Amino acid sequence: MGKGFYISKPVGIVSIILCAGALATIIALSVVYSEEKAKNNNQVSPTDGGTTSKPPVTTLAPSNEPWDKYRLPKNLVPDHYNLTLWPRLTPDLTTGLYIFTGKVVFFHTRLLHSPVSRSRSACLCQQEFGSIPLRGKGMYHLYTKFTGELADDLGGFYRSEYMEDGVKKVVATTQMQPTDARKAFPCFDEPAMKAIFYITLIHDRGTVALSNGEEKGYPVTIDNQHVQKTVFEPTEKMSTYLLAFIVSDFDFINNTIDGVWIRIFARKPAIAAGQGEYALNKTGPILKFFEKYYNSSYPLPKSDQIALPDFNAGAMENWGLITYRETALLYDKEFSSNSNKQRIATIIAHELAHMWFGNLVTLRWWNDLWLNEGFASYVEYLGAHEAEPDWNVKDLIVLGDVHRVFAVDALASSHPLSSKEEDIQKPAQISELFDAISYSKGASVLRMLSDFLTEEVFTMGLRAVDANGTELPDTVHNIMNTWVLQMGFPVVTIDTKTGVVSQKHFLLDPDSEWIVPIKWMKTGAALGTEWVLANLNVVGYYRVNYDEENWGRLLNGLSTNHQLIPVINRAQLVDDAFNLARAKIISTVLALNTTKYLDKEREYMPWESALNNLDFFYLMFDRSEVYGPMQDYLRKQVTPLFNYYKTLTENWSKVPDGHMDQYNQVNAISLACRTGLEECQNLAKTWFKQWMDTNNNQIHPNLRSTVYCNAIAASGANEWEFAWSQFKNATIATEADKLRSALACTKQPWLLNRYLEYTLDPKMIRKQDATSTIVYIANNVIGQSLAWDFVRARWSYIFTQYGGGSFSFSNLINGVTKRFSTEFELQQLKQFKEDNAEVGFGSGTLAVDQSIERTTANIKWIAENKQNVLNWFRDETKPVF
Ligand SMILES: *[C@@H]1O[C@H](CO)[C@@H](O)[C@H](O)[C@H]1NC(C)=O
Ligand SMILES: *[C@@H]1O[C@H](CO)[C@@H](O)[C@H](O)[C@H]1NC(C)=O
Ligand SMILES: *[C@@H]1O[C@H](CO)[C@@H](O)[C@H](O)[C@H]1NC(C)=O
Ligand SMILES: *[C@@H]1O[C@H](CO)[C@@H](O)[C@H](O)[C@H]1NC(C)=O
Ligand SMILES: *[C@@H]1O[C@H](CO)[C@@H](O)[C@H](O)[C@H]1NC(C)=O
Ligand SMILES: *[C@@H]1O[C@H](CO)[C@@H](O)[C@H](O)[C@H]1NC(C)=O
Ligand SMILES: *[C@@H]1O[C@H](CO)[C@@H](O)[C@H](O)[C@H]1NC(C)=O
Ligand SMILES: *[C@@H]1O[C@H](CO)[C@@H](O)[C@H](O)[C@H]1NC(C)=O
Ligand SMILES: [Zn+2]
Repeated sequence: MGKGFYISKPVGIVSIILCAGALATIIALSVVYSEEKAKNNNQVSPTDGGTTSKPPVTTLAPSNEPWDKYRLPKNLVPDHYNLTLWPRLTPDLTTGLYIFTGKVVFFHTRLLHSPVSRSRSACLCQQEFGSIPLRGKGMYHLYTKFTGELADDLGGFYRSEYMEDGVKKVVATTQMQPTDARKAFPCFDEPAMKAIFYITLIHDRGTVALSNGEEKGYPVTIDNQHVQKTVFEPTEKMSTYLLAFIVSDFDFINNTIDGVWIRIFARKPAIAAGQGEYALNKTGPILKFFEKYYNSSYPLPKSDQIALPDFNAGAMENWGLITYRETALLYDKEFSSNSNKQRIATIIAHELAHMWFGNLVTLRWWNDLWLNEGFASYVEYLGAHEAEPDWNVKDLIVLGDVHRVFAVDALASSHPLSSKEEDIQKPAQISELFDAISYSKGASVLRMLSDFLTEEVFTMGLRAVDANGTELPDTVHNIMNTWVLQMGFPVVTIDTKTGVVSQKHFLLDPDSEWIVPIKWMKTGAALGTEWVLANLNVVGYYRVNYDEENWGRLLNGLSTNHQLIPVINRAQLVDDAFNLARAKIISTVLALNTTKYLDKEREYMPWESALNNLDFFYLMFDRSEVYGPMQDYLRKQVTPLFNYYKTLTENWSKVPDGHMDQYNQVNAISLACRTGLEECQNLAKTWFKQWMDTNNNQIHPNLRSTVYCNAIAASGANEWEFAWSQFKNATIATEADKLRSALACTKQPWLLNRYLEYTLDPKMIRKQDATSTIVYIANNVIGQSLAWDFVRARWSYIFTQYGGGSFSFSNLINGVTKRFSTEFELQQLKQFKEDNAEVGFGSGTLAVDQSIERTTANIKWIAENKQNVLNWFRDETKPVF
């Protein structure tokens, strides 16, 4: 059926012979790293005497001029650090601030002074250096003492707070990546400047201190304070961005697998409720999987994973001490859906994959980040598949990464995977690299590479990496360069009449070209109905277009015997068609035609793909006359799916066995309720009422998000208040998140307005959740204009009060304006930009311009498509007599 080809413009077919060493250069980071390592070793000079035990070492910087670049001078290299930190979990009596003190060999930091300095974040545009005058050759042992603030800003050494049994608890924890280790202590804060760290933490007795190495604690008395001193085993030679220090009163569960000690830490009640068990169960098998995959033993004696109440990213791969958001690590079968569970399994796999790729072997500089994150984002599916072999989770990379990043990579604002080292200098430039391109496009392109090399060759190349820096054959190098060095992706057009296959840049820059590995299939069905389908299982990072006749035959194939087309490709046909239509390469009617067979479709991936694309139609039309016919059409399409699940689950009394079936059951209920299928709405209301009446929640965790939302949408204040009290009382973050999003579904303007007010009151809604809550409200067609008015009216307050890193202005602005599609709204947006020019938009500056651009495009799209779309929906729902 499938056949591998490489085509270059227009149809040249090249076959390529690959060897195991091939990947060594693609995975260039390790090579660069080993060169760097060799260099470092050469540079270490003999000690200048004085100290015999392992002293902190620096080599010379023969100048006492201030350093005026962002990058560190290369002639000064750390060997090891001896670092002691003492975080205080109660406020300092004189300053009222939470602080930490420390001592270390020092260089490269903002934190130079004692006593406490609050100016840390005010110097973003300056170089973040301390400088020390050094003369002559030799080894230097430089000691310094310092004090820093343990702020609640989610970066560097910071504090997280939560309530337990009515008591406020404080955790001291860290997030160093990419450039905040220097906020915790003076250090050589560049990934290639690896060193060994001897870490000691001082903390209150009764609390637990954790770091990258194994700990050993004993009580001591310092300055008349009876405290605990925890000394950690020296680390491997490692980068500063992978360090972690945590002091908490958390509890843990543990096991051991082939000598590796695995622990899961969380708040005591979460551990007591067994919420760490799933993670503990899966970590061992995933570690074993990666040992096999890399042919290399897990590099450390222990693997700790910890769930934190306040955490900005999803998780962080600190070596030996991985930190997570609670929702990314804690599982409770009473509360967690299968989607929550999948997130946990894939994030654990992602972070564990980094223990080798990223941590053991490290990028030299941040411009190679895509390789690190793209690789982990690809193999996370392989690791999760090992943990949950029944899920078919590997297929989901197509929805979760490939389709997701196509949307971003098709824009003028996209960028190539690789960046030049000299273009990535400032911390802000480094932070910008942590985006969908690095993660999802990186994953998609590496998956494509693995497919055309075969997985066997791909992993062999990977294993050679640590030892070898073999040159890549030019052919492979050239193929990869077309994907790595240029932004965007091609649309490949297959003309089945002439046999010509051609490509052009999807949307932009028509001159660029890619070497595209194509896999395709044909049916051998009756003459005249046979179709050609390219990009089997969507392993290639490109879209496909066909001549009209082949499209027609594919559509016919979908409606007559859709099972002949692989399920992933059914999802692809829908997604490609809608996106080709957005780019005006094919007609919108053709895209809509791909949804006609859905009344026969039972699989998750094509439905999910259709719903993702129809979301845009909802945004554009849910306030116009298209809405009614569109709802009628979609209700007609989803009703068979709804009934299918009703039967399969014996009147909703069981859960479908398959992971994908469980997902699609949620789609069936969501869309049936959304399109007004009465039976569905009654179901949601009845279940919710039972919960209220009995105070016993029988709703299956998989269905909670959609059932809560639809029940609250269909009812009034009592239901809302009940959900709010459950939100405040929730003991697991995933349940709180489901309720918080469902509260935005009410149709009552006064409830929505009051909820908007809550978002700016940290006692009601956590600061880290404020933006997403406002955006949830804006997603609701009734809430849209309320949220926009709210943001407009409060802009200067929001901007000044929530200026910190945890409040995402860009998500906020994009979120509240994404329905905008009229001249009037465009004027309002421009006015908003003008009125607040003085206050500014901070991290939302780009988003304001993007919103104006998007609104303009939406106005145009509606003008061109509305009538056709309306006619199409009407035709499709005409009563048949
Ligand atoms: C680190 O420093 C502490 C005291 O500052 C000392 O007791 C310890 O021996 C040092 N460890 C190493 C490995 O240098
Ligand atoms: C850690 O594992 C050991 C061996 O299974 C067990 O005896 C011990 O109670 C565990 N500790 C905790 C805190 O779970
Ligand atoms: C973890 O594994 C144990 C033993 O196999 C099993 O009893 C338990 O149900 C599992 N827990 C979860 C949450 O998967
Ligand atoms: C690496 O592969 C060799 C050969 O298959 C095998 O003997 C060895 O155990 C593997 N090592 C690890 C750590 O998986
Ligand atoms: C290094 O490369 C050579 C030549 O390609 C190969 O024979 C050897 O197995 C590689 N080393 C490792 C550890 O894979
Ligand atoms: C869409 O489907 C309709 C009805 O089957 C058909 O008449 C029309 O030609 C199709 N249009 C396109 C562009 O596929
Ligand atoms: C499902 O519920 C309906 C209405 O409550 C009932 O008529 C039907 O018999 C039930 N079917 C099954 C399989 O329980
Ligand atoms: C709040 O949660 C606690 C613990 O889960 C539970 O016992 C209590 O009934 C809940 N209160 C309400 C009002 O649901
Ligand atoms: Zn990662």
